[in-house]
Amino acid sequence: MGLFDRKPIAAADDGGHGMQRTLGAGDLIMLAIGAVIGAGIFSSLGTAAAGEVLADGTIVRYGAGPALVLSFILLGAVCGLAALCYAELASMIPQAGSAYAYSYATLGEIVAWIVGWALILEYAVGNIAVAIGWSGYFVSLLSGFGISFPGWMTHGYWAVKASSDPAIMSLMQSAPKIAGIPILLNVPAFGIVVAITMLLLRGVKESTRANNIMVIVKLVVLTLFVVVGAQHINTANYTPFAPNGFRGIHQGAAIVFFAYIGFDAISTAGEETKNPQRNLPIGILGGLAICTLIYVIVGFVATGLVPYEQLRSSDPLARALELAGLSTASWIVAAGAVVSMSAVLLVFQYGQPRIFYAMARDGLLPRFAAKLHPKTRTPHITTIITGVAVATGSLLMNDASTYDLTNIGTLAAFAVVCIGVLVLRVREPERPRPFRVPFIWFVSIAGAASCIFVMKGLPTSAWIAFAVWMSIGLTCYFLYGYKNSVLRNPGAAREVLPPLDH
Ligand code: ALA
Repeated sequence: MGLFDRKPIAAADDGGHGMQRTLGAGDLIMLAIGAVIGAGIFSSLGTAAAGEVLADGTIVRYGAGPALVLSFILLGAVCGLAALCYAELASMIPQAGSAYAYSYATLGEIVAWIVGWALILEYAVGNIAVAIGWSGYFVSLLSGFGISFPGWMTHGYWAVKASSDPAIMSLMQSAPKIAGIPILLNVPAFGIVVAITMLLLRGVKESTRANNIMVIVKLVVLTLFVVVGAQHINTANYTPFAPNGFRGIHQGAAIVFFAYIGFDAISTAGEETKNPQRNLPIGILGGLAICTLIYVIVGFVATGLVPYEQLRSSDPLARALELAGLSTASWIVAAGAVVSMSAVLLVFQYGQPRIFYAMARDGLLPRFAAKLHPKTRTPHITTIITGVAVATGSLLMNDASTYDLTNIGTLAAFAVVCIGVLVLRVREPERPRPFRVPFIWFVSIAGAASCIFVMKGLPTSAWIAFAVWMSIGLTCYFLYGYKNSVLRNPGAAREVLPPLDH
């Protein structure tokens, strides 16, 4: 048994003994929009347009300027290629685990492990960034009502350490201390992750209902931004259109890629989807198309409202309206951002436990993680573990490095999925494919290449962090998964895969 052994697809499905199939195509599109529109468009858009400059004037990244719309179009194309590949594999392998499960069936165990490990960056680390963004908007919303928190309760230790803003840096001195260590905690970010985790523990149907309401709110708020903002566009702001040329468009795209993450998350609901062969492709591609259109329009309006440099803030959409003198609309958009990011948190906190569940069911993670709750049929243990890990990270971390790490991990997983779909076509051409990627050779190779190209727009620090993360992952694999894999030890399957209903 080798490192590249593949899990047979027929054996991949547990015959429906596990989770309940309750989700339709409409639910999936709503889940996709719920996962996609969030911190990326409401927060990282500012850095993507304006770039990142340190207090001493050092340029960390170049911004796209008004050409941000081109970054969005570029990313729409890149993600479209990856989405097609996800759709083919999701419809063939409709089970929890997403890219992890597809890689296991196409490229073998060790690649599956690497992808599963990278997906932790996408889901859990990504959610830390979203929770921190959520907290920022939430705190500024409350301050509109005259409610304020002390700074040490709204900024994590690492966020303060990484900041170049004098007001935030001073918290290091002014915060209360225990044994000389400053107490710097992002309490709202922690609180929202705990609340979302508790909602998920109640079961999937309740959660998707809550998600649907939040999706409607975010669409209404972005429509408001576009309709109100469009009336105040100053066309002079579109010149120069691409102040940093293609470098700005590329580096802007690498940051704002965060805004696209999530359309793939719904593939983790494969075992809870009715008629997945039809509904998964519709959900994934439909959700991506809608979000790309919205981003291009929002990006066009935002860069027309104010000179692009003024978007450099953590709440660029609200700020653009504020600067244009539209305070009420600005406040409503800020409220909408809070709701939108809650929806993102929900979908990612939903997806991560299902990936852990799939990995544990295969024996690559400890067996207790493969248990389902007897009543709600949700993977409650991994839901709690994810909740605790993300809540703790949110309490302490800073957002910039978590955005970068999330993007690089996700793009790596996308690239593997693009290659995997081609490999499976070549190896098992006869296998029924409810959804087939058109022009497979082009889509697969161009999809993988363009994901790597976007990765190259990220700073060196992200590559180093990614290498460290992967080294830790491979160590875990060789210490645990390699020995306990169900594929390698068929006897173990009976223990790990009990008929979960009984
Ligand atoms: N795409 C998601 C967001 O922007 C992760 O928040």
